[in-house]
Amino acid sequence: MKKTIQDYNLNNKRVIIRCDFNVPIKSGIIEDDNRIKESLETINYAIKNNAKVILMSHLGRVKTEEDKKENSLLPVSVRLSELLNKRVKFIPFTHGKELEDAISSMNIQDVLLIENTRYEDIDGKKESGNDEALGKYWSSLGDIYINDAFGTSHRSHASNVGIASNLPSGIGFLIEKEMEAFNKVLNNPERPYTVILGGSKVADKINVIENLVKIADYILIGGGMAFTFLKAKGYNIGKSILDEENIEFCKKMLANKKIILPLDFICSKEISDSSNAYEKNIDDIASDDIGLDIGTKTRELFSTYINQSNTIVWNGTMGVSEYKNFANGTIAICEYLKNNDGTKVVGGGDTAAAVINLGYKAAMTHISTGGGASLELLEGKSLPGIEIINEK
Ligand code: 3PG
Repeated sequence: MKKTIQDYNLNNKRVIIRCDFNVPIKSGIIEDDNRIKESLETINYAIKNNAKVILMSHLGRVKTEEDKKENSLLPVSVRLSELLNKRVKFIPFTHGKELEDAISSMNIQDVLLIENTRYEDIDGKKESGNDEALGKYWSSLGDIYINDAFGTSHRSHASNVGIASNLPSGIGFLIEKEMEAFNKVLNNPERPYTVILGGSKVADKINVIENLVKIADYILIGGGMAFTFLKAKGYNIGKSILDEENIEFCKKMLANKKIILPLDFICSKEISDSSNAYEKNIDDIASDDIGLDIGTKTRELFSTYINQSNTIVWNGTMGVSEYKNFANGTIAICEYLKNNDGTKVVGGGDTAAAVINLGYKAAMTHISTGGGASLELLEGKSLPGIEIINEK
């Protein structure tokens, strides 16, 4: 068992909390603050226990000086101050005297946010390359390291693995919650166990399918990736998305009777909110049709599996759900899950954003804050940012 923040006496200690504040920001406006909200429990605990709270995170990818402007964490510090109802001091540097002085003058319960850790990538990928000296330097700024950045735990970077190698470490409440949910569905699922997979490319989910086909009872395939499976079965898929390189993989997987494919689709000739959308059975798809969402018969079919399941994992939307014409399949899955009393775990990234935006957050047992990290767990991998944390 990993140590947690609750295993340490935080009183008057400089506690570095690595969060995942990698949130979508356009022109300085945060478009989705879910990850910030999910970090609050750990930050509030550290404040309540009289720590000097030093927050770190990456934001986006920073390769040039130009990238810095769009990837500053300043807007996050403003939003965080509002949510904590407390001043968050923002330090626009990732190293140097101003940062060190600001930390030296902190009082207990103060909260400070360091600038985007990936600013250090400009000068030789020091953050992403887990540069040893950088990890040591950042660890010299604190007494205890808490990793609560679940979404970044599949990375081995200086701000997670690097610092944790040099300080007493623990996980925060968010990582504890995430690991509990994934442990349950990966190691101790109540059956029947259904996995719902969607999204556009089979390539992104190959390892997930290979791993979950061994664990789950049923795998329902929707979204764009269903067309590569249907092509593998010999159907005409029109102009729908095809992942040609993975047709053979799909053929191999289809030998397994656990995989359930759509019967019909909402099609159109183009992807737009104003385009004419119509329903077609899989046998009737014409060469100029694009399948963009699952159809009525598929929704009914999927509901029969979902309704009888006690564990459900969902990763990938059923259609191009950002367009209202093609969102009904994804909405239907949300409704079926809402009416199911079992354990319902939703993977991060696009699926999490869709479920939250459609208003179904409360209906789920757990919605992950990690896209890549949750996929790697579903692939059966362990996460280096968590592996490195001290055992109890
Ligand atoms: C994510 O959004 O998946 C995490 O914050 C990791 O970001 P990255 O893919 O840029 O490392």
